[in-house]
Order: sequence, then structure tokens, then C-alpha cells
Amino acid sequence: MGLEQWMYASTCNEPGTDVFDSILESSRRNNDRNGITGVLFYSDGHFLQVLEGESLVVRQIYDRIMTDSRHRDIVLLLNEPVARRDFDGWTMGWQIILPTDLKKHPEYEPYFNYFPEGANISARPGIALEMLTAFTR
Ligand SMILES: Cc1cc2nc3c(=O)[nH]c(=O)nc-3n(C[C@H](O)[C@H](O)[C@H](O)COP(=O)(O)O)c2cc1C
Repeated sequence: MGLEQWMYASTCNEPGTDVFDSILESSRRNNDRNGITGVLFYSDGHFLQVLEGESLVVRQIYDRIMTDSRHRDIVLLLNEPVARRDFDGWTMGWQIILPTDLKKHPEYEPYFNYFPEGANISARPGIALEMLTAFTR
């Protein structure tokens, strides 16, 4: 079995600290057990998440996340084999991106301001790590 990186965007149904905290708590607990790593971004109503792990395991987690009523309009942007993890040791990173930060990096804006029905954006492995570096600089 091989390592894969998946990335999707979605719309948060009820943004708020309680929702974010509970998602992160169960993510980190489960991911630690399942060998899943990644990062979760939130910006202005949208999530963008990267999941890394063994292909079968990532697929199972993704299927479960897809049915979660805390978000909707889930669009898969990437599922690719990768040679190594970008977020090794991160059971789930968390980063809120402010609209002002996004304005400074317009190249990443489409990932957060997308139209699910017609989403024709796709991601490449490594882009999330690039984003994290850009936004936390
Ligand atoms: C935006 C978002 C991201 C999530 N990410 C993960 C994740 O990385 N790993 C995970 O196990 N569950 C994740 N979840 C939660 C799952 O949908 C599900 O609620 C959880 O895995 C159930 O596990 P529990 O019963 O142990 O809490 C996420 C949910 C949302 C809305």
C-alpha cells in the first residue's frame, strides 16, 4: 500500500470555536491512531483540508468526513500518491486565514472562494505546505 495526499474544500455550516474545537479534538485522537497527518485551514466560511496516510485509510476517513453535518458542498481537489508526508508529526494542524492575509496571496484565493457546482480548480501535492508557509511568515 502506498502513501497518498488528499485535499478538499468545503463550506462550514456553523462556524465557531466550539465547532472547530470539537472537530480538532476528534481528528487528532483518530488520526494519531490511524497514522493520518495533515492540516485544516479555515477562511471566511470555508474549510480546506489535507489528509495524508495509507491510501485505504485516507479513503475511509474521507468517506466519514464527507457525511459530517458540520460542513457541506465538499469538493475533492486532490488525491495523489506521494513519496513522503508534508505534515509528518502533525495529527492535524490548524490555521485560520484572515481575509487580509488572503488578499496578500491572491494565488491561493480560489481554494477558499470557490463555487462548488462549477469547481474546476485542482490542487497539486505540496500546495498546502506552501500556503501554510506563506500565511505564517
Ligand atoms: C472539516 C472537518 C474535518 C475533519 N477532519 C477529520 C480528520 O482529519 N480525522 C477524523 O478522524 N475526523 C475528522 N472529522 C470528523 C469526522 O467527520 C467524524 O466526526 C469523526 O471522525 C468521528 O469520530 P469520533 O466518533 O471518534 O469523534 C472532520 C470533520 C470536519 C467537519
